[in-house]
Amino acid sequence: MPLSVLQPADADAVLVPAVERGRRARLFRLFAPQRRGGGVRGLAIVVAALLLGGCATAIPRLADGSVAAGEPARTPDVYYEPSPPEVVEAMLKLANVGPGDVVYDLGSGDGRIPIAAARDFGARGVGIEIDPRLVAVARENAAQAGVGDRVTFRGEDFFEADLSGASVVTLFLFPSINRRLAPRLLAQLKPGSRVIGHYHAVPGWTPDARIRVRGRPLYRWTIPVQAGATN
Ligand SMILES: C[S@@+](CC[C@H](N)C(=O)[O-])C[C@H]1O[C@@H](n2cnc3c(N)ncnc32)[C@H](O)[C@@H]1O
Repeated sequence: MPLSVLQPADADAVLVPAVERGRRARLFRLFAPQRRGGGVRGLAIVVAALLLGGCATAIPRLADGSVAAGEPARTPDVYYEPSPPEVVEAMLKLANVGPGDVVYDLGSGDGRIPIAAARDFGARGVGIEIDPRLVAVARENAAQAGVGDRVTFRGEDFFEADLSGASVVTLFLFPSINRRLAPRLLAQLKPGSRVIGHYHAVPGWTPDARIRVRGRPLYRWTIPVQAGATN
């Protein structure tokens, strides 16, 4: 049976709606209309649109305060937005990550998921990231966390990357991107590998586990997945 996929109104424009994110949620509540007056409501809609438009998080700086050199070779498919630490921990627990695992994060940002997999779960981690500035930050973060020898960051496009070494894959991406990645995951991952989705599901896949952390849905699928109808 296909998963009833949680899709916000504009799922491919916003990873997590502003109303569910702490800092911006407080701002949103501040400006939200208390009664349905036309002018106030209109102002609230404009403010909400501005807040939603500013969802991406700035590229983190290196330890010396500089932004790493370089630009992505092409426009990334998803903007940079880090998973909160509690969500990272819950994703890795949901995957039952252990010392025998190799955790691939597709679109690895500042490297927090592969780094946590190595530091807190004894696994090895691989990050695939298209933005060289984030790859530089992630490598520095891995060295600072003392796991530089067990974590690798590859400056690659996840649509072209070799994923066959993974036993766990994590995704915090738009639904349309998850859908495009699905055939690659099915073709390249070994049976028994786990795929973990943060907030957005893989359309058409039925999860074998689903939990909520900080109000955000997390999904687990095990390869081979029981693919449902594509939607
Ligand atoms: C929403 S962030 C998730 C960051 C990290 N996985 C986390 O959960 O904290 C998505 C990341 O995917 C990267 N990205 C977007 N398109 C990509 C592509 N085609 N190949 C590799 N990385 C990509 C972006 O640069 C961004 O860092």
